[in-house]
Amino acid sequence: MAQGQHLMLTERELLEKERKVCSWGDTVHYLDPPKFFERCEGSFLYDRKGAPYLDLQMWYSAASFGYANPRLGGALKRQIDKLPQLACQYLHAEKVELAEKIAKRTQKAFGEKGRVHFNVGGSQAVEDSLKLVRNHTKKNLVFAFMGGYHGRTLGASAITSSYRYRRRFGHFSDRAQFVPYPYCFRCPYGKKYPDCGMYCAKQFEKLFETEYNGVLDTKTGESEYGAFYVEAVQGTGGYVIPPKEYFPYLRKVLERHKILLVDDEIQMGFYRAGKLWAIEQFGVKPDIVVFGKALTNGLNPLSGVWAREALIHPKVFPPGSTHSTFSSNTLGTAVGLEVMKMTEEEDYERLVKEKGKRFLERLKALQKRRRKIIGHVDGLGLALRLEICKPDGYTPDRELTDRIFAEGMRGEIRTSKGRFGLVLDVGGYYKNVFTIAPSFGITEREMDLAVELLDLLIRKCVR
Ligand SMILES: Cc1ncc(COP(=O)(O)O)c(C=O)c1O
Repeated sequence: MAQGQHLMLTERELLEKERKVCSWGDTVHYLDPPKFFERCEGSFLYDRKGAPYLDLQMWYSAASFGYANPRLGGALKRQIDKLPQLACQYLHAEKVELAEKIAKRTQKAFGEKGRVHFNVGGSQAVEDSLKLVRNHTKKNLVFAFMGGYHGRTLGASAITSSYRYRRRFGHFSDRAQFVPYPYCFRCPYGKKYPDCGMYCAKQFEKLFETEYNGVLDTKTGESEYGAFYVEAVQGTGGYVIPPKEYFPYLRKVLERHKILLVDDEIQMGFYRAGKLWAIEQFGVKPDIVVFGKALTNGLNPLSGVWAREALIHPKVFPPGSTHSTFSSNTLGTAVGLEVMKMTEEEDYERLVKEKGKRFLERLKALQKRRRKIIGHVDGLGLALRLEICKPDGYTPDRELTDRIFAEGMRGEIRTSKGRFGLVLDVGGYYKNVFTIAPSFGITEREMDLAVELLDLLIRKCVR
């Protein structure tokens, strides 16, 4: 096929082919027909006709530093010309420098020495962390949160709360014991914060009171559980932000019973919630951090794990423990290193905090105008949430959420500045939450546009 020939096929022709030759297992089709895009830049995606779509989800926070970021693209191009391929049994400078930067910054955050290793996707890094847990604790069982999402490999889906992701495939790894997340707007215990007095954390603590709750041998003090997998801010669960006391309380309970705290930062890491690691916002020290997505801004994928020295020193976790052909690929490490350099040169903590505050103010003002429909708005850094509800302001309105989403993707919202599309992501326990993860480069005008588009969509879609 001549170069560029695919551009000559119409969307309809491409879709016909797609229906014949593409598996749908590797994707999620939210639209019928699914949408094609042709180009991206900054906060925008452009369809095949050149129409702009303001993106408020940035590839589930993988492209946090803006689409087609020239500095990161430059790092990738330089590496393509220099050392595009190398088996992972050999070393290259970028791997070592990137690991050092992550280890140093994590040590600064938690006051703990550790090491870093790499893999390709988030789920693979979660698998690697499960091996670290099993190797160190000699235990297979872990706790995880209701509403948590850790990926779709067999091991990762075993600790992800949705049965939907396991139903067809049965069990390979041990399924986690799922614990309610501190989701105060919809408290699983029907309590109100702060009067609840951290009831949910205390309920978890109570599990360890007697051997008959099935988690502890009270005679030896040994728990059957090796780790607790957490997201400091739940991602797919709907950008749920816990109250500040929750994680410190949980950490104490886990320490008491020698249960490791594994912090999944795949979606919230790299400043999405205002710090390098979201859990820093809660003053809590994890034993293992898992990361991916924005490490390479969605360019050549790279994920990884940081762990305390005692868990990951080569003497206890020897070569080959988690090796994969592409694990520390040169293109990914080059971009990851550039991301880390960027975050050293520019104060992302301040930038994300300030932009997040201004975006949240606008969303709260929108909520005031649409109080009956927007039941809840919240944010930490540039991880923002908006719950679409029925007129009582509480009952989730999934149908309206889907209509708003689909209408945004049509790309035909008329504004004073022209026609736009709006790219949103639907999450949450009841699929009624817009999880908003804009580019860190979002401008004031783009924030205004985002709120105008949301307002117009709501007006159009409410029946
Ligand atoms: C918190 C969290 N963990 C794990 C994963 C899985 O990562 P991946 O899709 O790269 O396998 C995701 C992806 O959305 C995530 O948000």
